[in-house]
Amino acid sequence: MNDSSIRYSLADVAKCNGKNGAKTWVVIYDNVYDVTDYLDQHPGGADLLDEYAGRDATSEFDEFGHSSDAKKLMKKFLLGELKDEDKRANRKKKHVFNGTKAEEASRQKRRGLLAILCGKCTS
Ligand code: HEM
Repeated sequence: MNDSSIRYSLADVAKCNGKNGAKTWVVIYDNVYDVTDYLDQHPGGADLLDEYAGRDATSEFDEFGHSSDAKKLMKKFLLGELKDEDKRANRKKKHVFNGTKAEEASRQKRRGLLAILCGKCTS
């Protein structure tokens, strides 16, 4: 049996938000990862993973452009996948800006790129 057949709900994931001794889980492409033991080794820092603890980090994971080595490494932390109904709910929630540091940084990066593409870069 393959581990990825284990299904979790978003509510299960939300409990693992790294606070008060809880584990640190993140959702990336509807897969659930336990990154508790990886926090201190993450080249992008523990803070970023903490910020997304207990929720979806797909867009940010993508926007920071992870290498294929990083994607191979992720498999070590894979717990399973979201339940189908939560996959749908999770997809609807994506791209909702809720003002976290990483989201603001990636928005600015996108804006910068758009400005260059549009030839409107004034600075
Ligand atoms: C299981 C999940 C994750 C793994 C295994 C992982 C692994 C890695 C690895 C190996 C690197 C080094 C560069 C590379 O090889 O691409 C890296 C860099 C980075 N990661 Fe992650 N990452 C994970 C999740 C995340 C998430 C959720 C975020 C954002 C919310 C994030 C943000 C970053 C950033 C910003 C860097 C760049 C650091 C720099 O170049 O200074 N990572 N990650």
